[in-house]
Amino acid sequence: MMRAARVAAAPVLPPRHFLDLRDHDAATLRRILDTARAWTVAAHPRPFAGRTLALIFDKPSTRTRVSFEVAMRQLGGDVTVLSGRDMQLGRGETIADTARVLSRYVDAIMLRTDRVAKLDEMAANATVPVINGLTERSHPCQVLADILTFEQHLGPIAGQAVAWVGDANNVARSWVEAAARLGFPIAIASPAELAPPAELCAWAQAAGARLLVTHDPAEAVAGARCVLTDTWVSMADGEAERRHALLAPYQVDAALMARAAPDAVFMHCLPAHRGEEVSAEVIDGPASVVWDEAENRLHVQKAILAWVLGAI
Ligand code: CP
Ligand code: NVA
Repeated sequence: MMRAARVAAAPVLPPRHFLDLRDHDAATLRRILDTARAWTVAAHPRPFAGRTLALIFDKPSTRTRVSFEVAMRQLGGDVTVLSGRDMQLGRGETIADTARVLSRYVDAIMLRTDRVAKLDEMAANATVPVINGLTERSHPCQVLADILTFEQHLGPIAGQAVAWVGDANNVARSWVEAAARLGFPIAIASPAELAPPAELCAWAQAAGARLLVTHDPAEAVAGARCVLTDTWVSMADGEAERRHALLAPYQVDAALMARAAPDAVFMHCLPAHRGEEVSAEVIDGPASVVWDEAENRLHVQKAILAWVLGAI
């Protein structure tokens, strides 16, 4: 017979995962954004001495890898960077078992993968927080960095018109979720085949988002204070030639930017393809804030790490 525990165990709280923007209320997203903003201009705490973040990449990365690594180190912690291919995962060990084992070594796990089911399985089985570092479904860390960038340049985003032009991909989907949570109108211009999925549109409408879906870039961009696009072929995509043909009318060029608000900013998560989704004149021109946007991955991810680990 088991002996009764002398001291009642403390209740175990579920880990604070950061998987999709729709999972969080406006107050939580605002707390992360405001913390990130404060930490761009002032010294911040280093609360994570002795703690380790695992970064797992099934797909390539420049910004996500370096910005998470630097963020965790600047917060006083350590990182281990892993490639899914080099782990036993690559020989068939399950994600669930990997999650259970890593949870005994590290304090948080960031995963980049092209199958969202893997992220969900990791989160369901890890006893430490799991962060979405991009899946084919979404890229929430990127979009919080984008919103921080918008607010640094143009003030609070609530009520401000945002336009997405091109493939309604993972980044666009996180933008729609942000629009619903943070209260700004968003217009998406894409070819019919690459429009936002019906499930996302239904969720956004039920959540009160002001979402316009159109095939006309000029209609989407009219009066917008932020114009966004992304690569025509994401890491999870095939059919590059077909996508190029479908998306050729969706390049963000100077003529399209001229339809936006006079002080509109241009954003792109990078990597960019000049002469495809954006003209060099726009991405290298005065409206472009893409380098601030890239820098803000570092600031916003510090705040995300602080939130998932309970420091804010
Ligand atoms: N924007 C972004 O996530 O870039 P990487 O693919 O380089 O991480
Ligand atoms: N939509 C792009 C974003 C890269 C950061 C991709 O998934 O490849």
